[in-house]
Amino acid sequence: MTHALFTPITLRDLEVRNRIWAPPMCQYSVHDRDGIATSWHLMHYGSLARGGAGAIIVEATGVVPEGRIAPQDLGLWNDAQRDALAPIVELAHSQGAAMGIQLAHAGRKASTHPEWGTGGSGSLTADEGGWETAGPSALAFPGLDVPRALDAAGLDEVVTAFTDSARRAVEAGFDLVEIHGAHGYLLHEFLSPLSNQREDEYGGSLENRARLLLRVVDAVRAEIGDAMPMLVRLSGTDWLEDGLTVQEVGQVGAWLREHGVDMLDISSGGNYTPAPIPVGPGYQVPLATAVRTASGVPTGAVGMIDEPFQAEQIVATGLADVVLVGRELLRDPNFPLRAARAVRYAEPHIPSQYARAHR
Ligand SMILES: Cc1cc2nc3c(=O)[nH]c(=O)nc-3n(C[C@H](O)[C@H](O)[C@H](O)COP(=O)(O)O)c2cc1C
Repeated sequence: MTHALFTPITLRDLEVRNRIWAPPMCQYSVHDRDGIATSWHLMHYGSLARGGAGAIIVEATGVVPEGRIAPQDLGLWNDAQRDALAPIVELAHSQGAAMGIQLAHAGRKASTHPEWGTGGSGSLTADEGGWETAGPSALAFPGLDVPRALDAAGLDEVVTAFTDSARRAVEAGFDLVEIHGAHGYLLHEFLSPLSNQREDEYGGSLENRARLLLRVVDAVRAEIGDAMPMLVRLSGTDWLEDGLTVQEVGQVGAWLREHGVDMLDISSGGNYTPAPIPVGPGYQVPLATAVRTASGVPTGAVGMIDEPFQAEQIVATGLADVVLVGRELLRDPNFPLRAARAVRYAEPHIPSQYARAHR
């Protein structure tokens, strides 16, 4: 019996031990609004690695302070933040996992209350430590503050911030970087006509709306060199008629291939609410498959992939190249080991300390 899930995958110089990856998941566990990882991050990412995930993509990490979703987010705009991430990467490596990090700018959805902990919701006020947000156009996400439209100098600063953070990711020992181009954050805001009404070369046609993303990708590649894989997370659709479509995302994926992107991580939505999202088991897999086919780029599928055989089938039948398992890994960080037993894979990565439990 073959085990598609446990067939290693190679991207550039990186071989990843299996196809069950952990997607980025905000932990909102920075203590002093300083973007510095804490003991929670060490424990959390260490347990995902010990549980057998192939690659782990560290949560959305702000490339600039104003690019954080909330003040409790990780950051990578200074060297102290880099130095706090390095031991986490080392711990995950000791357990055989590859480590990635999602470099993010939250754009018009920055400066919000975290999901838990403050009791508040929506945009932070100045008194609460909020800041002015920025986006492609002065158009608010429903319920949030109106952002400032970025000018040419602001766009240059965004590109430089991604580049500098990517350099620090390399220095911290990460194996791959993922650019956050999904969920209604800055780069998705440029891609989507719902949030981008610019009349310059960054708005209008799809080519123009993709320009900032492609600039970021090129600049990051120049910084990280040829050996390190780069992923881009995209929303496969806005789920709205006048929003970004899966056909457009497939075209963006093809451009990203030409610009050396090694894998697409296909999620959906996040740029407008309410949107009619047909949530259910594997509901975003068809988007991943469509983008994979249109772009020719290896693709990860994500979204309610919670069962071992469901995951195995997605990879075995070529619907996607890897599966990213989010909340199920929060419920059970040992999901990859459980999946290995389910598909009768004989050689999962079991820590010697736990071997007796697996005989
Ligand atoms: C607690 C939590 C935090 C999340 N944070 C991020 C994030 O930082 N970046 C991102 O792209 N997606 C984020 N997501 C979305 C997940 O990466 C994933 O796409 C989503 O949970 C669907 O997969 P699942 O059904 O397997 O959980 C988050 C999801 C959860 C549950």
